[in-house]
Amino acid sequence: MSSTAPKLKRHIVPSALSASFAWLARDVNLIQKAGAQSVQIDVMDGHFVPNITIGPLVVKSLRKVTKLPLDCHLMIENPDEFIPAFAEAGASWVSVHYEACPHLHRSLELIAQHGMKPAVVVNPATRVELLTEILPMVHHVLVMSVNPGFGGQTFIEFSLDKIRRLAALRQELGLAFRIEVDGGVAHDTVARIVQAGADLLVAGNAVFGAGQPEQDARALLAAAREAAGQ
Ligand code: DX5
Repeated sequence: MSSTAPKLKRHIVPSALSASFAWLARDVNLIQKAGAQSVQIDVMDGHFVPNITIGPLVVKSLRKVTKLPLDCHLMIENPDEFIPAFAEAGASWVSVHYEACPHLHRSLELIAQHGMKPAVVVNPATRVELLTEILPMVHHVLVMSVNPGFGGQTFIEFSLDKIRRLAALRQELGLAFRIEVDGGVAHDTVARIVQAGADLLVAGNAVFGAGQPEQDARALLAAAREAAGQ
């Protein structure tokens, strides 16, 4: 990693998809105690991805029980229609898929106009270079290292090259957007992901899978920071 790359602190972003939806407030408080600085909310509509999860109503309830930034990953068609509802619910960051937004520039503007931090997501098959024009607009870029829709999948290895290319593009353009990675982030992958240039590490199964989220979140965060020399 070149010396001019932004020195971003590595953070894990627990994915609530693998938490207990019956005890969501408890689980979010446990990962906050472990040092997590945000939590990812996976919003799925059964169309853009073959699964259905939660929406603004759950975000609104969570907002009442935590001050953590709520990182809402919208795996939905027509996300523009729902931006006002997520703003009203108290979402902090909203990421929309490049593959779901024919007018991506307008969608990112809409998120910012509603007071939230805009971000863009690319599926494994989508090249990061397609984002060049809008990179100055985003808080972060989310690189999917699995095909979205489910937790507990295997990390797609070519994602490392995509992360490296995105970090190089960030440096070339003199930008400071964050690089978030999602899918199969665990103890056997986190060091290589961090050394490729990612700083926001989404983890579902690795944090909640064993039913001890505080310990496992703390351990994964320590492994990420050790790999980054932080
Ligand atoms: C999948 C979601 C991910 C998922 C990650 O579409 O976007 O956030 O929960 O889960 P793990 O870490 O188990 O791969």
